[in-house]
Amino acid sequence: MDTLVVEGLQVNYGNVQALKGVSFKVPKGQIVSLIGANGAGKTTTLKAISGAISGKGTVVFNGQPTAGMESFKLVGQGLIHAPEGRGIFPNLTVMENLQLGIVGRHSAKVHFAKNLEEGFTLFPRLKERIGQMAGTLSGGEQQMLAIARALIGEPELLLLDEPSLGLAPQVVKLIFDIIVRINKDKQVTVLLVEQNAKQALKISHYAYVLETGKISLEGKGSDLLNNDEVKKIYLGEH
Ligand SMILES: Nc1ncnc2c1ncn2[C@@H]1O[C@H](COP(=O)(O)OP(=O)(O)OP(=O)(O)O)[C@@H](O)[C@H]1O
Ligand SMILES: [Mg+2]
Repeated sequence: MDTLVVEGLQVNYGNVQALKGVSFKVPKGQIVSLIGANGAGKTTTLKAISGAISGKGTVVFNGQPTAGMESFKLVGQGLIHAPEGRGIFPNLTVMENLQLGIVGRHSAKVHFAKNLEEGFTLFPRLKERIGQMAGTLSGGEQQMLAIARALIGEPELLLLDEPSLGLAPQVVKLIFDIIVRINKDKQVTVLLVEQNAKQALKISHYAYVLETGKISLEGKGSDLLNNDEVKKIYLGEH
């Protein structure tokens, strides 16, 4: 079964057409990546799926069209977006940010204590900094907080926008390892947007290349890693 099916998605900003009819799917239990250059439309795609912006075309989540549904309603059904730039609240503490992870999601309220402990197991550093203002965390710690908060909402589909952006190589590795664990251990379906195409393709079951608002290429992660065009343009190999 497909957790997410996107068909003919179009988004305009004024007279700029950012998405020109994007179609793809995310099968249940898989990690699917969307890779592409700056400005290709990756963030726009995630925003349109989570209801942050509206577009034309169809988005079907767990068999139901999401047309016109507000973000908070989609969150209630387990469609959770960890946005570009992390989206944490800098003037709230780590704990307060984590508590916001349950807003709008009933099942997550019931399991908050357990999910919080699991979050701390994945990211022990957050536990040490529980009372610290989120804005004073390092970039890597803020990213950990953004992911932990998303997990506290018990996602069925987790949308991750550039989780590795600006992080040191060791933290990048940690974040990718954790995405794999979340997918394997908790069966969370993941739609991952990344500039770090190599790491993303390595952990993805399937991937799509977005080029100025259109899907230009798709395939298994392992196949795209060996594709000459992908190697040259997105992996910097010649
Ligand atoms: N609010 C907006 N108003 C006008 N144009 C926008 C807006 N948001 C995005 N765009 C434009 O839409 C296009 C797609 O932007 P988007 O943020 O989706 O790209 P992206 O693939 O996520 O890029 P990056 O890798 O740099 O994050 C870009 O040309 C961008 O300038
Ligand atoms: Mg983006």
